[in-house]
Amino acid sequence: MIVAGVTADYGLGLGIAKLLGARYCRFYSKIFSDGESYLRLDEKVKGEDILLVQSMDMLQDKRFTEMLLAVDAAIEAHANEIYGLVPYLAYARQDRVFLEGEPVSSRAILNALSSAGMSKLAVIEPHKKEELSYFKGKSLAIEVIYSIASEAAKKTSADTLVAPDSGAMPRVSAIAEKLGMDWDYIEKKRSREDGSLSIARGLSDMANSKVLIVDDMISTGGTIVMAAKEALSKGASRVDAAASHLILANGAYGRIKDAGVGNIYGSNCTSNNSCEIIDVSGAVAEALSGFLVD
Ligand code: R5P
Repeated sequence: MIVAGVTADYGLGLGIAKLLGARYCRFYSKIFSDGESYLRLDEKVKGEDILLVQSMDMLQDKRFTEMLLAVDAAIEAHANEIYGLVPYLAYARQDRVFLEGEPVSSRAILNALSSAGMSKLAVIEPHKKEELSYFKGKSLAIEVIYSIASEAAKKTSADTLVAPDSGAMPRVSAIAEKLGMDWDYIEKKRSREDGSLSIARGLSDMANSKVLIVDDMISTGGTIVMAAKEALSKGASRVDAAASHLILANGAYGRIKDAGVGNIYGSNCTSNNSCEIIDVSGAVAEALSGFLVD
């Protein structure tokens, strides 16, 4: 098998290829003066299975389009099976219609990937596993949060994990149980109209606790800021944050640090130089090895 980084694989493709004993290559890419992307697959892939690795974190529309172009290039080059690994799937949070007139964005994206010619798709922690059913071939959701949270908890000597909303609670309680740590959760309310956050259920006493907030993603940072302020107001002596996907849009990093968060831990599923990055190639390669031969 060949593992091919499209335009945004952040070293994950190479790490996985080494662990799977596969060949690794990168697409040649450039941007035309009008902004369109150009891709070329220089590796010979005829008759071989190819795994295309493309994260869709920044410049989401471009990364998605480039993934479609990469599938087509692999078809043209007569690859055997075309598989995809998406370390961060864009548009996944709009997984249903919240207000009349909206699209189901994740359905549009996943439909397009299967229609393009991809036969299997693995996504690292999609917003909801169920939405992968919109992909018409075989799909797999890969979890990496345990590797990230356990490593971050070790580095920060945290004793308490906090889920910043009820959606994160099952994941956080399971990790805490495995690591033998205390845990608590916040119930967050987000306004559908303006996106503002409020707390419906706060934390219990956190006096002198070293808290690690664990979430699936950090986007604007609003959720982490809210949770950090809550933990500090309940007496936490230190607060750090960890998430599988660091998007950190529009100055989120500064807002999170200003709220008193020590370190922000994430993975090489997204591009982020300012944070503590934990390599998740091992967990991803292990999950992929069964899925791709199946
Ligand atoms: C929400 O359901 C997610 O689990 C995250 O908590 C959320 O997407 C984080 O977004 P932000 O950083 O913008 O608050």
